[in-house]
Amino acid sequence: AIDPQFTENREQVDSHKGHDVWGPVEEPEKLGIHGTHVAVDFDICIADGACVEDCPVDVFEWVDTPDHPESELKADPANESQCIDCMLCVDVCPVDAIDVDAG
Ligand code: SF4
Ligand code: F3S
Ligand code: ZN
Repeated sequence: AIDPQFTENREQVDSHKGHDVWGPVEEPEKLGIHGTHVAVDFDICIADGACVEDCPVDVFEWVDTPDHPESELKADPANESQCIDCMLCVDVCPVDAIDVDAG
């Protein structure tokens, strides 16, 4: 599962489409965590798609991640500022790849 303390345990190494990327990143095998308020651990995501389908405000957009060992698509929190903290995505992800800081 995603580490809920990732902002303390990881370094912000990059940004992507306006959101933070938390390392380590070593493409293509290690892609880190994308987003901060809505955070997706790309190294855990298996492209199940439930988050993309269920988010009521369309926070997620698919991105291609060729040659990643878990999946070649990831749910990117491209619109994390629109999140309404409903926690649906956290509940439906089968591999617990998402953390939403609703505090
Ligand atoms: Fe979307 Fe709700 Fe997840 Fe926020 S908590 S990203 S609104 S599903
Ligand atoms: Fe990935 Fe979980 Fe969404 S596996 S596509 S973050 S439901
Ligand atoms: Zn991203």
